Amino acid sequence: MQKIIMSFLLLSSFIWSQTFQVGKNGAVASASKQASDVGIEVLKNGGNAVDAAIAVGFALTVVYPPAGNIGGGGFMLIHSPEGAVTAIDFREKAPHAARRDMYLDESENPVDGLSTEGALAVGVPGSVAGYEYARQHYGSLKWNELLAPAIKLAEDGFPVSYYIHEGLRDHQNLMRRFPASVDMFYPNGSVPAIGDMLRFSDLTATLKRIAKQGAEEFYRGQTARQLVKAVRDNGGIIDLWDLQHYEVKERKPINFTYRGYDIYSMPPPSSGGVCLAQILKIVEKFPLAGYGFHASQSIRIITEAERRVYANRAHFLGDPDFISVPVDYLLSAELINAMAKSIDIKKATPSHEVDHAPLPESEETTHFSVIDKDGWAVAVTTTLNSSYGSGFVAGKTGILLNNEMDDFSIKTGASNIYGLVGAEANAIQPQKRMLSSMTPTIVCRNDSLMWVFGTPGGGTIITTVAQVLINMIDYNMTLVQAVDAPRFHHQWWPDVIFIEKYSISSDMRNILKDGGYPIRERSPIGDINAIGIDWKNRNYIAVPDKRRQSAASVY
Ligand code: DON
Repeated sequence: MQKIIMSFLLLSSFIWSQTFQVGKNGAVASASKQASDVGIEVLKNGGNAVDAAIAVGFALTVVYPPAGNIGGGGFMLIHSPEGAVTAIDFREKAPHAARRDMYLDESENPVDGLSTEGALAVGVPGSVAGYEYARQHYGSLKWNELLAPAIKLAEDGFPVSYYIHEGLRDHQNLMRRFPASVDMFYPNGSVPAIGDMLRFSDLTATLKRIAKQGAEEFYRGQTARQLVKAVRDNGGIIDLWDLQHYEVKERKPINFTYRGYDIYSMPPPSSGGVCLAQILKIVEKFPLAGYGFHASQSIRIITEAERRVYANRAHFLGDPDFISVPVDYLLSAELINAMAKSIDIKKATPSHEVDHAPLPESEETTHFSVIDKDGWAVAVTTTLNSSYGSGFVAGKTGILLNNEMDDFSIKTGASNIYGLVGAEANAIQPQKRMLSSMTPTIVCRNDSLMWVFGTPGGGTIITTVAQVLINMIDYNMTLVQAVDAPRFHHQWWPDVIFIEKYSISSDMRNILKDGGYPIRERSPIGDINAIGIDWKNRNYIAVPDKRRQSAASVY
């Protein structure tokens, strides 16, 4: 009997994500309870939100391997106690030997799996450099203190959750192609069961070296040499030069207002901020609150805005260090007005009738949010791209590498794993950053911090962030309600509204279908990790999404 109760308790804590938590001094919401707890420990030990975010990032590398990483990249938005917001870009880059047609066959057709599986799919990782940069410029604790919790988790092991068990089961065909991936994730040759302890000895050694010698070790040391050898032995093209020349970029966030709220989000090479701003500025012209949540009129307007914005994404957005991205033009009142005006409130605009804006004259991931007692707030979205990235662990480093190269437009008009299409602006070039949809976002009102959040979800990231904001600002939902509420998504192509199961009644489906909006059901959309501030009672409310296994910690 006792055994049954024990296994029930164990199982329940792994299946159900936790509910929201309220704290006075600090809050963390992330994809894993252990990682959120790490963040709170760092805050209690005197670290600020930036220190805590870095420690959470390293911890997720261990306890949330489908997306937490040191073998990938991401974006960090930082809000200082004085209200300044800055963006740190540690997105992966194409290796210098990359070629625009590297994933095409002789007939110029994309080769299945080449940009998504194994060593050739890997972009030059940015996470370790990004975290080091963030600590040096905005953190306060010592580097090795930020890695210590991750090292402990990797060395002592952590219990496999339901979600991780399922992920390892579903990705075994890919991972079993690489012996180091099998050693790391299938220690007895089989999928680890729920509750089994996973320990990562090679990754422990790598994290210890990085703790001692800093990012230098990852980009120029023994880790760099081992990583390059493993990649090249398996058909990849990253070399030591690529690692040595990886550079973090600090950028100015995209900043705009939506119905009186001051919104900051990620600039290119993410499409997130620009597309979020376009969607919200278009729908701002319509009385969504009057229409009501998930009323057909609201769904139509938001869908039409999303359709037009994703057409622009495919054409205009890419790495601003390589192409000129006309951000001001894309956010100009004239263009937004024209896009809003082109929406026929009574009739669907088929996607083949929608093109990008005219040229001006003359874009498994995980998100975590942290806030501290002083008002530092951090939103980080980081990724290996798809779940478990390329599936390729770089030999003895224990580093699972990304498949971010698939975020490039590998051929004009060809869609990536998220069905997103792209063109010239996001074509592969040596050293270029691939376009992202990641949208870490911070919202203020009257100079007070309100919400810090973001989500994974490939192409659905932007529309998820937009809908959570619309839920709160237009429909007056609480943060918890806004995160829980069902979601839908349109990305220009394919010309369908994707909906979560049970999200829309059959009556509403019929209304939309009859109105020219084909509907397709899909798996849950997004996994928000948000923190809101209740200024009246001075509470921090950490809200993990219920869709995966996210969890919050506070103190
Ligand atoms: O940067 C991007 O937009 C993608 N690589 C994000 C991937 C992602 O969100 C997968 N998550 N479910």
